[in-house]
Amino acid sequence: MDTLAPVAFDVARIRQDFPILSQPQARGRPLVFLDSGASAQKPRAVIDAMVRCMETAYANVHRGAYRLSELATESYEAARAATARFVHAADPREIVFTRNSTEAMNLVAHSWGRGVMEPGQAVLISELEHHANIVPWQMLRDDKGNELRVCRVTDSGELDMDDLGRKLADGKVGLVALAHMSNVLGTVTPVERIVALAHAHGARVLLDGSQAAVHRSVDVQAIGCDFYCFTGHKLYGPTGIGILWAKLEHLDRMPPFLGGGDMISSVTFEKSEWAPAPAKFEAGTPPIIEAVGLHAAIDYVTAIGMPAIEAHERSLVDHAMGALSEVPGLMLLGRAQDRGGVFAFALDAAHPHDLATLLDRAGIAVRAGRHCAEPLHARFGLENGTTRASFGLYTTKEEIDLLARALTEAREFFR
Ligand code: ALA
Repeated sequence: MDTLAPVAFDVARIRQDFPILSQPQARGRPLVFLDSGASAQKPRAVIDAMVRCMETAYANVHRGAYRLSELATESYEAARAATARFVHAADPREIVFTRNSTEAMNLVAHSWGRGVMEPGQAVLISELEHHANIVPWQMLRDDKGNELRVCRVTDSGELDMDDLGRKLADGKVGLVALAHMSNVLGTVTPVERIVALAHAHGARVLLDGSQAAVHRSVDVQAIGCDFYCFTGHKLYGPTGIGILWAKLEHLDRMPPFLGGGDMISSVTFEKSEWAPAPAKFEAGTPPIIEAVGLHAAIDYVTAIGMPAIEAHERSLVDHAMGALSEVPGLMLLGRAQDRGGVFAFALDAAHPHDLATLLDRAGIAVRAGRHCAEPLHARFGLENGTTRASFGLYTTKEEIDLLARALTEAREFFR
């Protein structure tokens, strides 16, 4: 893993890279965008790269015998190579482009879960998972009978590692599928420990890195996991592209997920042969322009430096812990030691949607509801959900202070 180095991080300068942050807003106030956990804003470099691709270098990939198609193919494969470097993969063939991280997890559930895992093996998830890392395993259970086990979360919002150990102990778990960072609690899970424990009990490990890959350097080889999923749109790139990283030995054993063009080596009416990975998992025309945008986003955050981004976010987290704990009546969900810039909270009896609507009047954009983590909210007795502020690399301490002030005023209003 990269170590945290003291790097000059000029947030005012970075904000100028994001056109939306200087657009006039419907509310007539500057935009305070605190919903990057749902989807991040896009820097000019990403927007320009995608427009340039469409204007100068666009054609379908892997098909045309003409120069423009070769150029587009080179760009698409260069995006794969950049993504591999970004997560420190051993080989670009370990990167499969999907539609989003939800699709990446469904791919593993369908292909590895149904095609490789034994029917008697269990899948172990946790209470802090996003629905994308719950529902595909329920579907596998209902279809193939694989037991679904759920690891508990402590009151401070951390994985209960003793419970994890207990649920692995009988050696029947085939896959441990966990979030690297919770999209509600901000908790960063101890992935190296989890992998060591799971592997010692014969289980493979899938990590949902949708939130984590945005906030810190990811080294899949150092973590030692088997599958890692994340998405372009939270990483300042476009929607419509997700990433599955998997060890080649797994991809080679996995049957295809979707059938169609580009994923075969030959087709007759009697039978088809599959192309090698990653093509085997990329049926049909892939997200070409999106891959170019993802590449630009990876170049953008890499140029700033993931260690610098992580250090900035740590200072935002410290600041938010202080500022939010001074808001009367505010209950923060999750107090994990290792956490990223995601804060879900409840304010007295105010309904999360009413609160978010009031904050919107102050120009502050937050998410309200259960954030695709209904079981986690049930675990904490918050069936109405929470309001959530989530940070990006352009977030400032002043914006967090504005949020804290607006919450204090909102409390008065609701009282
Ligand atoms: N999964 C995204 C979120 O947590 C959409 O908001």
